[in-house]
Amino acid sequence: MKILFFGDIVGRTGRIAITKVLPRLKKKYKIDLVVANGENAAHGTGLTLKTAQSIYDAGVDFITSGNHIFRRPEQIDELFAKFGEKLIRPMNFEGEYSGEGWGKIVVHGKEVIIANFHSQVFMETQFQGLIASPFKALDNFLQDQEKSAIIIVDFHSEATSEKRGFGFYADGRVTAVIGTHTHVQTADAQVLPKGTAYISDVGMCGSANSILGVDKDRAIQNFLGQKGSGEYYKETEEAEAGFVVLEVDGKTGKVKSIKSFLEIVKV
Ligand SMILES: [Fe+2]
Ligand SMILES: [Fe+2]
Repeated sequence: MKILFFGDIVGRTGRIAITKVLPRLKKKYKIDLVVANGENAAHGTGLTLKTAQSIYDAGVDFITSGNHIFRRPEQIDELFAKFGEKLIRPMNFEGEYSGEGWGKIVVHGKEVIIANFHSQVFMETQFQGLIASPFKALDNFLQDQEKSAIIIVDFHSEATSEKRGFGFYADGRVTAVIGTHTHVQTADAQVLPKGTAYISDVGMCGSANSILGVDKDRAIQNFLGQKGSGEYYKETEEAEAGFVVLEVDGKTGKVKSIKSFLEIVKV
């Protein structure tokens, strides 16, 4: 089974980028399942009914998220009511929130579990709640899962130390740990010693020559202590699309390979 995982889709530019590249990638890599992180799809922050629909229409089967998922509170209940079968948010938010932290999708008769965890180090939560330990949340979650299950984890995290710690902690217990959130792809896609595919961060799908998808001039103004003017998430003619392709043994749930890609796309 071949699984393609896109990093955080940022704004309209990111959404157009996946629409443009996905038909070709599906054919080229013989993809059976497409997963994408959608936390920045609605103009950089959060996810709406319309933007979620456009991601599914582009050919994505399942959407994960992160710290920005509750940025559109007026739509959040409806969003999960409509798409909750194929949309998740980090499971280790403490308290009562819309949505679930993991879900299942059947691919060629085989169940694939997709789970989302939020890190604790250097993270803004964008809401008032607390983040429980993702390490302990993983233990609790795996208690109910079969050993041969295919389990793809999105670990939404900032610090490479915590990312790699989580990867080794999960090694041999899940199929893959895919880091998201930093929007910058790391060069450490690998299969860990006990067989789990890992990358610290898969990158983003958003404006090229930007700062994490944000207009670079605007972001630099902010770094200079200025209020800044102009559009924050300006649409651009070129986008980057960061993704990994996993090859998974459908019977054992073990990964055979992970390869990372960063493409520049005309949008
Ligand atoms: Fe993000
Ligand atoms: Fe994030």
